[in-house]
Amino acid sequence: MEITPVRIKGTPEWRALAEHFATIRDVHLRDLFAGDPGRAEAMTVEAADLVLDYSKNRLTTETVRLLTAVAQRSGLRDRIEAMFTGEHVNVTEDRAVLHIALRAEAGTHIADRGHDVVPDVQRVLTKMADFARRVRSGEWRGFSGKRIRSVVNIGIGGSDLGPAMAYDALLPFSDRALSVRFVSNVDGADIWEATSGLDPAETLFIVSSKTFTTLETIGNAKSAREWLVAGLGHPKAVERHFVAVSTNASEVQGFGIDPANMFEFWDWVGGRYSYDSAIGLSLMISIGPEPFFDMLAGFRAVDEHFRSAPFEHNLPVLLGLIGLWYNDFFGAETQAVLPYSHYLAKFPAYLQQLDMESNGKCVTLDGSPVELSTGPVVWGTPGTNGQHAYYQLLHQGTRLVPADFIGFMHPAHRVGDHHDLLMANFFAQTEALAFGKTAEQVRAEGVAERLVPHRTFPGNRPTNTILAPELSPRTLGELVATYEHKVLTQGVIWGINSFDQWGVELGKSLALRIAPELSADGEPALGHDSSTNALIRRYRAARRP
Ligand code: F6P
Repeated sequence: MEITPVRIKGTPEWRALAEHFATIRDVHLRDLFAGDPGRAEAMTVEAADLVLDYSKNRLTTETVRLLTAVAQRSGLRDRIEAMFTGEHVNVTEDRAVLHIALRAEAGTHIADRGHDVVPDVQRVLTKMADFARRVRSGEWRGFSGKRIRSVVNIGIGGSDLGPAMAYDALLPFSDRALSVRFVSNVDGADIWEATSGLDPAETLFIVSSKTFTTLETIGNAKSAREWLVAGLGHPKAVERHFVAVSTNASEVQGFGIDPANMFEFWDWVGGRYSYDSAIGLSLMISIGPEPFFDMLAGFRAVDEHFRSAPFEHNLPVLLGLIGLWYNDFFGAETQAVLPYSHYLAKFPAYLQQLDMESNGKCVTLDGSPVELSTGPVVWGTPGTNGQHAYYQLLHQGTRLVPADFIGFMHPAHRVGDHHDLLMANFFAQTEALAFGKTAEQVRAEGVAERLVPHRTFPGNRPTNTILAPELSPRTLGELVATYEHKVLTQGVIWGINSFDQWGVELGKSLALRIAPELSADGEPALGHDSSTNALIRRYRAARRP
């Protein structure tokens, strides 16, 4: 597919936004709220079970009108359609981008190169559900006849972050008789710790890798296989204790995993968009097939909203536009994501890959340099812990840090008044960030004059508030789909390809070159720069054989 990116900076829509920015940049949220009692109501949108209040942002309804005009001009509407209908919008890899097919209703027709992919998705989901039920019920036994008590997912990047995040997020829905662990790092400490204390006879490994060639994953899988065979005393044990999730059947077979125990996905699913594919097998074993299908329904509800809602009421589009507003006009470099749920501890790390691997690009679709700043640095930790660590900088630092606050009406567990306290902090933080505290207010509290500047809060720090009824499989699916589509929205306006990741290749190939140099006998000729050569020599000198 030929996509000619719109050079958005040169358009009248962008220029109008830039002129408007000059009138907004110094306006305080205090004044925006004081001037419009209906602001919060006007700036609240809903999608499925999610509510977004974006009123605590440095913008007006005119800003939103101009931002949506930019989105229209960028061709976003057509690109959404192109993605949903299987066009090869991943132009540098000539691939369709069809994660939306992973949660499409059975019977929907979505074709890649004329082939309807939905029956394939449904077939794999049925196979996963059958396997998950057998493991959960104890029908699937290990080599020595014991039932499976521990599942270890071996994968990295998109083959790890999604299921690991979702497993934690949905722990209250999990079968606690089965523990799930995740191994990703090539640092041997990871597989060491993940297997420590486990009984090989009761352990199932899921080797998850789209390509099945990723160095870290294959290295960890080999070590896991050695551990298992040593523990059970027979290579045939591998058949009952290893399954694979991959697009690469021949490599899976080469590793020694029975192809009947391979759960397939396809090249039109990007790694970071894949945890609702078979990559979520560990999650499905943990929570069971029905909750997994509820999660898919949540994804689907937001997909439908994204595809059909007008941009000014479109939750993922608005999140994308607001992020772009700070990124490209206010010069913000980062985006904080602050979930007020302990179970979402890994959500920011998951979003890091989703957003930064997608939109960390410096050339447009046609290969020319981008004219605008692209993807921000995404980071965060759950509230309230962050409040006692880095929120100081958010409140009084010199940087502008736009933040998404994510909270839930109902807790997973009723423990005293914890949830009200958690949510009191949640609401307090966005209020404090937006409105701050003036020097006059500080003085009125009788604070000594020399301390007044220190105790003043400038405010005007922007936040989005996202609320959901509770953290459930369904709302988790809705949240993830929201961020997936936010990333697409921004990528289209910046004119970049959000679906490739060539930037990870150079480091990988250099590591492959350096690995044998570290263990080679004698004095290998090193052809790197002087710093890298010296560091390798120092390491070699210290390295124990
Ligand atoms: O190196 C980056 C990357 O390709 C990610 O995009 C991907 O999610 C990860 O590695 C793992 O790849 P695979 O699933 O093929 O092992």
